[in-house]
Amino acid sequence: MDVVILPGASDAELFTARLIAAQVKAKPDAVLGLATGATQEAVYARLAEMCARGEVDFSRISSFNLDEYAGLDGNDRNSYRYYMNHHLFDHVNIRKEATRLPDGTAADPEAECAAYERDIRAAGGVDLQLLGLGNDGHIGFNEPMSSFRSRTRLVVLSPETLRQNGGYFDPPESMPHCAFTMGIGTVMDARKVVMLVTGARKAAVTAAALEGPVSAMVPASALQMHADAVTVLDEAAASQLKLREYYRAAFAEDPRWRNLR
Ligand code: F6R
Repeated sequence: MDVVILPGASDAELFTARLIAAQVKAKPDAVLGLATGATQEAVYARLAEMCARGEVDFSRISSFNLDEYAGLDGNDRNSYRYYMNHHLFDHVNIRKEATRLPDGTAADPEAECAAYERDIRAAGGVDLQLLGLGNDGHIGFNEPMSSFRSRTRLVVLSPETLRQNGGYFDPPESMPHCAFTMGIGTVMDARKVVMLVTGARKAAVTAAALEGPVSAMVPASALQMHADAVTVLDEAAASQLKLREYYRAAFAEDPRWRNLR
């Protein structure tokens, strides 16, 4: 696991956008795994700016999102399809038909999940998976105790996640209690994983995920077993990491990061 610590949230967001842009440049028909959430909004804004300047071309890219609320269709302002259109897809030259999220209104959830896994495989697998980190350690909506081998499925959201995201809903109690999510096994199959975490609120869970024991209690700790994973942090989110000095030295000296700084 590579850990990149940058001074502020905007630095971490820009670096993450550059990592995604580098993937798109290296493989113009790459398959991106995308995430939603407050953390990613600025990443998508930076990518939209790069696209407007002609620095990155999404015309051959396809994408699979991590998750979608059960029961919400794409026109619902709280659906993740709406979020993705609003924050990214409407602002870059990606083909909408090449963007996929689980269908929150699927009549047969099991069939939808099996089809999602099939579609990812048929696309050749995810080249780069973007992740955020939930307050309870979740990645996607893989809540604590999700199996590390789990695949795309319908899950019940944890009380912590209902608290974390309830504020987006009016009233908060109207937030769906279930969601479709790629599994941890699905995420781990991605060739490269980029997790972005910002803010002091996430410092403790970031330390548990990166430096704590690998445990289903902290789903993001599974990434310690991924062969090509990088976590991008601001100073606030990194503040409880024991090896902060080492991560800074490695980032400064490792030539892989040279063009992205
Ligand atoms: C969203 C997702 C979640 C979020 C996480 C952090 O698609 O899969 O795991 O990345 O809940 O959310 P924010 O960024 O809102 O703190």
